[in-house]
Amino acid sequence: MNTQDIVILKDQAVADIRAAGTPADLEAVRIKYLGRKGLLPVIMEGLKDAVPAERPEIGRRANEFKQEVGQALDAAKAALTAASSAATRGHFDTTIPGAWRGLGQLHPVTQVIEEAIRIFSMLGFTVADGPDIETEYYNFDALNTPGDHPSRDTQDTFWLDSGELLRTQTSPVQIRVMESRKPPVRIIAPGRCYRRDTTDATHSANFHQIEGLYVDRKVSMADLKGDITFFAHQMMGPNVKVRFRPHFFPFTEPSVEYDFSCHVCGGVGCRVCKQSGWIEISGAGMVNPKVFSKVGYDPEACTGYAFGMGVERIAMIKFGIEDIRLLYENDIRFLSQFA
Ligand code: DAH
Repeated sequence: MNTQDIVILKDQAVADIRAAGTPADLEAVRIKYLGRKGLLPVIMEGLKDAVPAERPEIGRRANEFKQEVGQALDAAKAALTAASSAATRGHFDTTIPGAWRGLGQLHPVTQVIEEAIRIFSMLGFTVADGPDIETEYYNFDALNTPGDHPSRDTQDTFWLDSGELLRTQTSPVQIRVMESRKPPVRIIAPGRCYRRDTTDATHSANFHQIEGLYVDRKVSMADLKGDITFFAHQMMGPNVKVRFRPHFFPFTEPSVEYDFSCHVCGGVGCRVCKQSGWIEISGAGMVNPKVFSKVGYDPEACTGYAFGMGVERIAMIKFGIEDIRLLYENDIRFLSQFA
């Protein structure tokens, strides 16, 4: 045994440590080199047979060997343990209980629209659709709204450079439907509307309406009142009251505005209904014969009713929401109350 033998033995030990793939392999390496009957004790044993002048150097090298191989073994063991726990983390443990992330839910505005579709489908209505970007013709002219009507003012309407506009109401869908089908017609058209309104607790520049249109031979104001009242009871419960007030719209004659009694306070008066006990839902009326003429329907042969509905207003009284802006902030803590 000389100093050179120890260097070779150390290289061997390092190679064995690198090759070890498990903690058990490493333990075998440790026993092989440093164990009580391992190679290092053999070296120490041989010390007494060495040339006396070389003994101190061999002893020093042997100690170095013990230290360095010991450290290499410790480091390799730590690396193996870290790797094996990382592998465990990547492993899918089917016995761990699942983490519940909660179910998503529909936005209150969507809930009202879906409920309205369900209710009107019981009365034989189907759903129609129209574009958000409309022409002046569909949004105004065809609806008998003349060029000097205040609703055409740039203060109220978002006009586009193209000369088109963002629809201010869902009523243009009435025209599109009647142009493409013969009577009888029974549709509702939910959708977004846009107005240059200053946002406050009850106004938003972007809101939703549901348009309704029923055209047949003998549709009457009684049908309109009956169907709106049926809708109100289905949507808000049997205690809600509906009232109709005379009004004017260019595309209906006669026209009404209609209100629901406030669902939040039961009609007594509260902040949501501004102490009046009533919430205005929108307008309605009998389709103006001039509108029938525009779409090629015979005003002598058919009659019809039409109505609008403010979806946010219904959502506000149905769910007791005091400020329309809350509906658009997408605060999940607020929205998750209306499951
Ligand atoms: N489009 C009207 C509005 O936005 C609401 C309306 C009134 C719709 C009367 C109708 C109707 O269909 O007949 O204020």
